[in-house]
Amino acid sequence: MKTGKQPAWLDNAIFYEIYPQSFCDSNGDGIGDFNGIIGKLDYIKGLGCNAIWMNPCFASPFGDAGYDVSDYYSVAPRYGTNADLKRLFDEVHKRKMHILLDLVPGHTSVAHKWFLESMKAERNEYTDRYVWTDSIWEEPQGMGCIRGISDRDGSCAVNFFSHQPALNYGFYKPDPAKKWQQAMDSEGAKATLEALKDIMRFWLRMGCDGFRVDMAGSLVKNDEESKGTIKLWQNVREFLDSEFPDAAMVSEWGEPDKSLQGGFHMDFLLHFGPSHYNDLFRCEEPYFSDRGRGDVSAFVEKYLENYEKAEKKGLICIPSGNHDMDRIARGIHGDNLKIAFAFLLSMPGAPFIYYGDEIGMRYLENLTSVEGGYSRTGSRSPMQWDDTNNAGFSAALAEKLYIKTDDSVGRPTVAAQLGDENSLYNEVRRLIGIRQEHTALQSRGEIAFLYAEKNAYPFAYLRSSEKEKILVIINPADRETSFVCGYVPKEKIYSLAGEISVTDGKLTVPPCFAGYYAV
Ligand code: NOJ
Repeated sequence: MKTGKQPAWLDNAIFYEIYPQSFCDSNGDGIGDFNGIIGKLDYIKGLGCNAIWMNPCFASPFGDAGYDVSDYYSVAPRYGTNADLKRLFDEVHKRKMHILLDLVPGHTSVAHKWFLESMKAERNEYTDRYVWTDSIWEEPQGMGCIRGISDRDGSCAVNFFSHQPALNYGFYKPDPAKKWQQAMDSEGAKATLEALKDIMRFWLRMGCDGFRVDMAGSLVKNDEESKGTIKLWQNVREFLDSEFPDAAMVSEWGEPDKSLQGGFHMDFLLHFGPSHYNDLFRCEEPYFSDRGRGDVSAFVEKYLENYEKAEKKGLICIPSGNHDMDRIARGIHGDNLKIAFAFLLSMPGAPFIYYGDEIGMRYLENLTSVEGGYSRTGSRSPMQWDDTNNAGFSAALAEKLYIKTDDSVGRPTVAAQLGDENSLYNEVRRLIGIRQEHTALQSRGEIAFLYAEKNAYPFAYLRSSEKEKILVIINPADRETSFVCGYVPKEKIYSLAGEISVTDGKLTVPPCFAGYYAV
């Protein structure tokens, strides 16, 4: 399989995802900004994270929180200037950390000048930049479209919301009866790809360390097996190998065998599609609940399938959450959150911690949608730093905030958890420290599942590197349980709540427990 040569720092990268709107507002306008983020870099480093993924921060009408870009080369003024972003890169690097920007290659906003030009009746440089049919009466089937707003006689395919027109990278198998379907090697499709490389070049030259790529599998149309899209990303890989060999590429694709072939370094496990990720934290009976009625087996089966296909490389990233899903603390609570992190921080692939998950920030129910967030809005509320005005997020009046803060009694804050040895924050920090000390627990350590039976607890796996083997035992259920795994734990590396005991090769595990042991 052709994968890009992995930048060394990715091997033990632990990412912190920042939704820039909601992290820290330095100028009191009610929305987060780059200077605010710079002021909190030491906090992120203190937690132990050494890399950042920041959601889109480019000019946009914000119909989809910035995933509707209107200028790829300028940051949105509400976050600061391009020079401020450069300063953020520099400050990140000063702390020996790395930062990925969010690249949105599949679509733009309807307000992008490319789209405005492409709507014109006269042919111009941007006529073929998007996927247009050649008659307003014909819709691009199965894609949704924008129609009736242009002088141009045609309908334009969309890639996500109906204000996000699909950029034209060509069709893998253009239908000869539909002349508007252009091939991947048509002039228009090739120009779009070159324009994408120019954007990447611009930010990489300025100092970003790579990209999280939005909907990376969506680019080439009529491409059922993704062969065209893989080819397209291989082309990007060649460009990066020759100009930016250290740039890291992480895809939102959810099919690591495909994305790694396309030259991505890592792929995300997604909360939709066949991954069974939701069985863990986000379903009626999550595995990580102390009710102990969940099932981890389907997740493990799917994970293994992908792991084999990805040639056992630890390149599948499991996030604690992200800006698109319910907060992890919506469905699981208390020590179960600590146990969830003991799992997340001992799996292969780079862990991604969504801002605020490290203190167990809650999902805010029933919020009115903000910037196309809809049900996602409840996971995008301001970071809770302390108990001062607006939880320390902003000096603005509460009604001016981008999204309201969690004002419920007992809401978690950084200030309260920093000083509490037993807090979730301190547990996450400890677990990160342990991961950093043990190569077996890091991205590329191998994994073998030892116990992951249907509807059963505990859950156990072995992580190994050349240097060491570590047995991980997880029992979120509120009851003691036992199993046989063929390994006898030796030295303890970590445990939460109690101790396991071993009798005749049978391991008995306390309730609500997580432990790591050298074997
Ligand atoms: C995935 C992003 O994570 C999500 O927030 C966005 O709405 C869609 N892609 C469209 O870009």
